[in-house]
Amino acid sequence: MDQHDTSREDGKRHRPQGQQRQPPMAPRAGGPASGPPDSLGKIHVPVLAGRVCELLAPALNRPGAVLVDATLGMAGHTIRLLTEHPGLHVIGLDRDPVALDIAARRIGGAGFTDRVALVHAVYDEIGLVATDLAGGAVAGAFFDLGVSSLQLDEVDRGFAYAQDAPLDMRMDPTTGQPASEVLNTYPAAALTRILREYGEERFAPRIAAAVVRERERAPFSSSARLVELIRDSIPAATRRTGGNPAKRTFQALRIEVNDELRVLERAIPAAMDHLRIGGRLVVLSYHSLEDRIVKRAITPRTLNTSPLDLPVDLPGHEPEFRLLVRGMQTPTDEEITENPRAASARLRAAERIRRAA
Ligand SMILES: C[S@@+](CC[C@H](N)C(=O)[O-])C[C@H]1O[C@@H](n2cnc3c(N)ncnc32)[C@H](O)[C@@H]1O
Repeated sequence: MDQHDTSREDGKRHRPQGQQRQPPMAPRAGGPASGPPDSLGKIHVPVLAGRVCELLAPALNRPGAVLVDATLGMAGHTIRLLTEHPGLHVIGLDRDPVALDIAARRIGGAGFTDRVALVHAVYDEIGLVATDLAGGAVAGAFFDLGVSSLQLDEVDRGFAYAQDAPLDMRMDPTTGQPASEVLNTYPAAALTRILREYGEERFAPRIAAAVVRERERAPFSSSARLVELIRDSIPAATRRTGGNPAKRTFQALRIEVNDELRVLERAIPAAMDHLRIGGRLVVLSYHSLEDRIVKRAITPRTLNTSPLDLPVDLPGHEPEFRLLVRGMQTPTDEEITENPRAASARLRAAERIRRAA
């Protein structure tokens, strides 16, 4: 495999794992709507794939179009887009090296290796990657946020609370601190803030206090003890409603461990900056914290920035983007039945119509 030199100013490097962009392969006819079976033999159904492809299509139909799939995962969306657009090249990012390996195999199996560059990177590096590998502006950027079903299914990664597993939760296990370290070292006030802000957990102070008390007896290393502690910290009446009470704490820890929200705050504006005119951004988020960040990044750039007290809009202040869906779009009942993971999906999309002055 060719290696790209994607040196960053700070001296760190992206770790490209795939082939450099090369001339397109012969077009393939048709293709699977949901992608081939994954390494575990399951069919992988990418979320809202039809709508995502429809929204990106006008930007990707042009010769030489490049899309950055910022969350490649198992390449479900990417394989479908490559199938539908024979001239398309994809730069596929993922911070999880295991996901990249699986994506490489699936992309190879579909016959698209030559049209994909795989890059081991966090998606707030999207601008650097687009500049390094596509010379700057691209035709499309796609984000399918959060963890993949593969990561959830791999018990040892520690994302799921239903089974006892090491408390890790790093999407990139080669760097950063695992969830156990957060639990065992953060002061109670910091734990409370994380559980409240990232998990929207009403009982954050009680859970944080219990964690601090319990870790004095023995540090946390696996999920079952944490799940039990959360259950015991929540009033019995609340426990009977609203599903597994560990869900919110696990979401909060995952967001903290991977610094998900701050990375997203940087990534969406960077992706928008690197779209050419006619280029399209599509984002799927799965909880209100993510969706709020996406909305706040997109909306201001769809507005005229002329001073409000002027009777007319000033030239050069026209919006840079236009919304492709009004507000956000949610899945239909049919889509949720086909793919339960789609249930909480919220889609936002925009198109660049003007370059900023
Ligand atoms: C929901 S999955 C994507 C699934 C993919 N669209 C498909 O159809 O197979 C999200 C992927 O994004 C990756 N990811 C999440 N946050 C990331 C970040 N900040 N930078 C790079 N990759 C990230 C995860 O490791 C995971 O593989």
